[in-house]
Amino acid sequence: MKFLYSSLSLACALSSLPGALGATYKRTDNIVGNGFYDAFEFQAIKDPTHGRVNYVDQATARAQNLSFASADTFIMRADSSKTLQSNGAGRDSVRIRSKKTFTTHTAVFDVRHMPQGCGTWPAIWETKEDTWPVDGEIDILEGANDQGPNEVTMHTGHNCKVPKSRNMTGVPNQLNCDDTKDDNGGCDVDFAENDSYGLPFNKNGGGWYAMERNNDFIKVWYWARNNPSVPREVSSGASSINTDGWGQPDALFPSSDQCKIGDHFGQNNIIINLTFCGDWAGETFKDAGCGSGKCEDFVNNNPGAFKDAYFELAAVRVYQ
Ligand SMILES: *[C@@H]1O[C@H](CO)[C@@H](O)[C@H](O)[C@H]1NC(C)=O
Ligand SMILES: *[C@@H]1O[C@H](CO)[C@@H](O)[C@H](O)[C@H]1NC(C)=O
Ligand SMILES: *[C@@H]1O[C@H](CO)[C@@H](O)[C@H](O)[C@H]1NC(C)=O
Ligand SMILES: *[C@@H]1O[C@H](CO)[C@@H](O)[C@H](O)[C@H]1NC(C)=O
Repeated sequence: MKFLYSSLSLACALSSLPGALGATYKRTDNIVGNGFYDAFEFQAIKDPTHGRVNYVDQATARAQNLSFASADTFIMRADSSKTLQSNGAGRDSVRIRSKKTFTTHTAVFDVRHMPQGCGTWPAIWETKEDTWPVDGEIDILEGANDQGPNEVTMHTGHNCKVPKSRNMTGVPNQLNCDDTKDDNGGCDVDFAENDSYGLPFNKNGGGWYAMERNNDFIKVWYWARNNPSVPREVSSGASSINTDGWGQPDALFPSSDQCKIGDHFGQNNIIINLTFCGDWAGETFKDAGCGSGKCEDFVNNNPGAFKDAYFELAAVRVYQ
């Protein structure tokens, strides 16, 4: 019966919704606690987006407790003790990149806390930096200056547009994903849930973000910690998942003749970073109600404002 039912619904879905199907995946990476130190490298690099940040290496991060792990928790955060010289280095922070790369896969991020505070610009995203943008970029969790909701953005090489009308709960904004258009604004979707970002997200104890990528689409889902409709296989970190049961995504980027996802995405790393000011948070600092001064001065002079500028992750799980 069960088999019959599932093949029937498969047939219906295929005829009415070509390319909209997910799949069954097996867990290949279960990154928890100290496992983050094996799965990710700490990147002490210059911020390509001009942030007021000083990314530190793993030894420094651990020595200063900017990174901390226990059996079931991984934390990465900004320094919240130093006042900075305006002509010196930016605020210490952490940027990590997965050692592995992934093509078609589903990634689940169980996030207990995300960086909060004026001047912050955190992100969980996937791309391939040395070939950017030809292997694509999908920003899964991103925002600036505590301004929710979450925004998901896809960036690609030439010739990629997505339709306005899509089967998703989020609200589409720009539709051209080509990096040479709209000042590389990408094609973005604003989430419908206010608790998908910043303070309300943290008050809830965070939640789960998931991204599924195949050659037919990219989908991103979000469930708040207290959302009863989170799939049990997501909340439990199951060893296999079937994304067909996950319901309508928050963001959908369908493959079409206007944008063949399989042609625009290659091997991607998972990157988690926290920068300050720069191209996004610097430019929206005032409008976000963070004061009339410069974002950089705020970051230099107010270390205490960054005590909640940290990611606390319960797990990153990759399914292929
Ligand atoms: C941080 O993440 C965002 C993600 O979209 C990216 O645009 C930015 O370049 C990143 N900055 C650094 C230095 O990692
Ligand atoms: C490091 O950070 C963790 C997590 O916030 C905290 O529990 C621990 O006490 C800190 N260690 C030190 C030496 O401050
Ligand atoms: C989200 O916040 C905005 C602005 O504060 C508000 O207008 C809207 O009603 C809120 N939406 C939900 C679903 O709570
Ligand atoms: C939209 O997606 C939902 C869940 O993924 C599905 O049940 C529904 O049939 C879809 N609707 C349309 C119009 O495609």
